[in-house]
Amino acid sequence: MPSDSEKPISKIYPVTSTDSLKPGQMSCFDVNHQRIILARIENNYFAFDEMCSHEEAELWKGALREDHIECPLHGSRFCLRTGKPVEEPATVPISTYPVTIKDGKIFIELVDG
Ligand code: FES
Repeated sequence: MPSDSEKPISKIYPVTSTDSLKPGQMSCFDVNHQRIILARIENNYFAFDEMCSHEEAELWKGALREDHIECPLHGSRFCLRTGKPVEEPATVPISTYPVTIKDGKIFIELVDG
């Protein structure tokens, strides 16, 4: 079990306001030098990597399908809750990030370093 000094440190970053995205929309943000996509499905918000894990494709150019993002290049679909690919050719998950909402603002948690 890692000691407290070995645990990764995460930080919470403000990103935008809840009314900046309509249901079914997504947008890409620079958060602590990382490109993160924030997507809204109904009243749920999901944060995940900008780039597909298969090749060099920007996922914000793809399509939201229920709680999945479909890559614009070869059509892999990733679960927005887990980042796992549910359709090939991608086999490696994308990273997803915890999202919290407080007072109409959206925050994303990233591991520092
Ligand atoms: S680059 Fe995304 S599925 Fe190939």
